[in-house]
Amino acid sequence: MFSEWAEKGKDKGMESGHAASVHAMLELVGIPRSNDYTAVDVGCGNGWVCRLIGSDPKCTHVTGVDGSATMIAKAKTIDNEGNYHVAKLPDWKPPTGFDLVHSMEFLYYLHDPKAMLRLLHDDWLNSGGMLVAGIDHYLENEDSLSWPEALNVHMTTLSKDEWKSAMNDAGFVDVELHQVGKKDGFIGTLAMVGRKL
Ligand SMILES: C[S@@+](CC[C@H](N)C(=O)[O-])C[C@H]1O[C@@H](n2cnc3c(N)ncnc32)[C@H](O)[C@@H]1O
Repeated sequence: MFSEWAEKGKDKGMESGHAASVHAMLELVGIPRSNDYTAVDVGCGNGWVCRLIGSDPKCTHVTGVDGSATMIAKAKTIDNEGNYHVAKLPDWKPPTGFDLVHSMEFLYYLHDPKAMLRLLHDDWLNSGGMLVAGIDHYLENEDSLSWPEALNVHMTTLSKDEWKSAMNDAGFVDVELHQVGKKDGFIGTLAMVGRKL
């Protein structure tokens, strides 16, 4: 489905549609920063968030990972110097950890997002690193509950409390949930922030 979206140019629509929430999410984890850090965008689509994070002079390395070869091909066309990697998750882990893991509108497509949060904590983050993950499909966002049927795609529907417990169970500390990018008729992206000890 996502490769089809990329072919139809829907990646650009996601880029503009998600921008306000992503900017707020990056602010929550202190981007731009005053110290060097590395970052990864999980479910990066056409890689626009990698390029946004990479524009911070203190970001020394950023990688984008996505399961759609067409999305990654697009990312490489836009930015042929960038680091973009095709991988179906959760069946892949990076060779080294990162100081920041970002993800937007990715986790709920998985059948077991709670297990993915554990992997992001254990295998993707350096000690002291931070995760920020945004989702628009969650129980309290009633408008989003029709999406799985409308798109005929699996989505795991959890409440805000269930996401918070999943973050804590995955091992994150200082867990915070925010609703960002609110606008008329939209209760906001659920932005989850946590730190690895
Ligand atoms: C709704 S799009 C969001 C893309 C991007 N984060 C953005 O905000 O524009 C979801 C992305 O997650 C990727 N994705 C979904 N399930 C995946 C999986 N199991 N492994 C890797 N990527 C996956 C899709 O290919 C798609 O590019």
